[in-house]
Amino acid sequence: MADDAARSYESGPLEKQALEHVWIHSARWLDLAERDGLRVLVRGEGSTLWDARGNAYLDGLAGLYLVNVGHGRREIGEAMAEQATQLAYASSASYTNLAAVKLADVLAGLTPGDLNRFFLCSGGSEAIESAMKIAKQVQAMRGFPKRYKIIARRGGYHGATMGAMSITSSRNEKFFGPFMYGVSFVPSRRPRLRQRRRAGNPGAGPGYGGGGGRRTGLDREQLPRAVASILAARSRDL
Ligand SMILES: Cc1ncc(COP(=O)(O)O)c(C=O)c1O
Repeated sequence: MADDAARSYESGPLEKQALEHVWIHSARWLDLAERDGLRVLVRGEGSTLWDARGNAYLDGLAGLYLVNVGHGRREIGEAMAEQATQLAYASSASYTNLAAVKLADVLAGLTPGDLNRFFLCSGGSEAIESAMKIAKQVQAMRGFPKRYKIIARRGGYHGATMGAMSITSSRNEKFFGPFMYGVSFVPSRRPRLRQRRRAGNPGAGPGYGGGGGRRTGLDREQLPRAVASILAARSRDL
């Protein structure tokens, strides 16, 4: 499927510029550049994306699980443009802003019980970093500075920043280690991970399937005295 708007781009020079100047975040560079060439996406509508050559794709991942209402939503673009004309930035270190207050109010109406105050940030990794910092600070302020350990589930993904990657079990120790101190992994309940572990797949990670305290390296007595938080994102089969 081709698209006129996409065709109006000069795909050759654009892809050359991309190859020369854009650093793709994590995919293997040779796979992208040599086998296939860099794919430059130029437009989206609903769940369809078009690249600079006019090829259409189904956006099965909804961006990275975040474009759930689809691409090309005019009303969202207009609201963003309107906000940009009102206020470009306000530091959340000491202030808040009208849009943040309105969003927090909506979220408070949706979330259960007394879960009604929101730490707004720019993405998932930053949210995880912030959650770990909050958990540690709470323990320090309660007088328990040694409760800094974090328990995460094997197979979970928490992001690409250093702290978030430290609690992601598929972290690449060789390239990015050493990671944050005080992290323990416990087994995932996901059956496919269990099967892979049984089949001897190292991707399922060492220590998987251990019992009791061996899973975290802490015994039952130590656990409450050492742990700041438990990160339990839904595990993916990584
Ligand atoms: C469960 C979970 N946590 C954290 C992240 C990291 O989010 P971001 O890519 O916005 O930093 C992701 C991203 O896929 C995620 O799925």
